Amino acid sequence: MRFGINTLDDIDVRGKTVLCRIDINEPVDKRTGELKDTTRIEKCVSTLREISGKGAKLVLMAHQGSDIEYKNFYTTAPHAKALEKFLGQPVKFMDDVCGPAAREAITALKAGEILLLDNVRFLSEEQTLFEQNLGLSHEEQAKTLLVQKLAPLGDLYVCDAFAASHRDQPSLCGFEQVLPSAMGRLFEEEFCVISDIMENPKRPCVFVLGGAKINDAFLMMTSVLKAGAADTILAGGLVGQVLLWAQGADIGEGSRAFIRKQGYGGLVDTGKQLLGSYGNRIVLPVDSAVLEKGKRAEYGLESLPRDANVLDIGGKTAALFREHILGAKTVFVNGPVGVFEEPETEAGTKLVWDALGDTEAYTVLGGGDSITATKKYGKTAQVSYICTGGGALIRFLTGEELPVVRALRHGSGIKTKALQG
Ligand code: 3PG
Repeated sequence: MRFGINTLDDIDVRGKTVLCRIDINEPVDKRTGELKDTTRIEKCVSTLREISGKGAKLVLMAHQGSDIEYKNFYTTAPHAKALEKFLGQPVKFMDDVCGPAAREAITALKAGEILLLDNVRFLSEEQTLFEQNLGLSHEEQAKTLLVQKLAPLGDLYVCDAFAASHRDQPSLCGFEQVLPSAMGRLFEEEFCVISDIMENPKRPCVFVLGGAKINDAFLMMTSVLKAGAADTILAGGLVGQVLLWAQGADIGEGSRAFIRKQGYGGLVDTGKQLLGSYGNRIVLPVDSAVLEKGKRAEYGLESLPRDANVLDIGGKTAALFREHILGAKTVFVNGPVGVFEEPETEAGTKLVWDALGDTEAYTVLGGGDSITATKKYGKTAQVSYICTGGGALIRFLTGEELPVVRALRHGSGIKTKALQG
């Protein structure tokens, strides 16, 4: 047991049916439906190999896509193929989540076999908007369709989805109410490594924020600044643009329209409060890059064209960020600082990642896009620790107990299946 949660060493999976929640949410090619990266899939292989190798019947639950910011649900069928490749053993796939076909497939499993169910977010009760609007307690989540239908078929529940541990959803927090539970090896590693670093981070501790999903980043900024966990925040990507807007800078009509369209307009007020209280510890961009007739153009804040849509930080900002990264002893990174997928707007992210490679600080990086950028710029070996969680990592850094950690602590105390009607 570690941090009050069972590990795989504390449960006997032999001959049991194990319901296991993993996070294999990967970037998907919207045109072909193919996976563009498989890092999270590769990372959960050791847990799956260990459980199935001990002779358990292993049932996998996973999501693909987000209803809040991506609105892009896809089947997990390609994930089964990728899992098969990395595990070197067959992985059955069932295009059902908890209906009769899924339940039959679970009942038919033999010792050592692995079955992946379809995207749990095909069920509305698994969606983040549902989670936020209904705010079900963990006991109530145990009464949802998913848990009521699948828990009777399982003996044990294992969660290896640290990357989704900030979500309060039935597949993540409901099963621990009725089944003896444990965390998987990846969850254990990520949770323990990050807990240890946060206990006493070497100073100065610098946070680099960017990316497109910025609600969590704003949530986290206030708490890490207030608690003193972050000495300095380097604000890139949309976080930087929203904060510049909050400061009264003209970020261009294109940028403002994009921020409003994403539903982040309300964050400008949060940004004003943040800057009011902690402005001296937040480093904002001093220049920006836009596209003009398909070519990169950089502008200082005062000279930005009125209709500009900012897509990257400029060279001066990247140099400023580099200075802070090189002077730090601990660096947390969440999200690229610009649209790094396109050649004309990747320079900012590349320069920041070069600094991550050059610094002597302990560097922790989280989230799907950050992992993709790290691979793209060949920095995998130079970053100290890569965490599969993006939102989960930054929510963890707020110091709050994550919903899945709370649920797993509860489920670790259950000795035998306790199903309610
Ligand atoms: C992630 O990609 O950060 C995790 O898979 C969680 O996804 P979500 O933000 O859509 O819940």
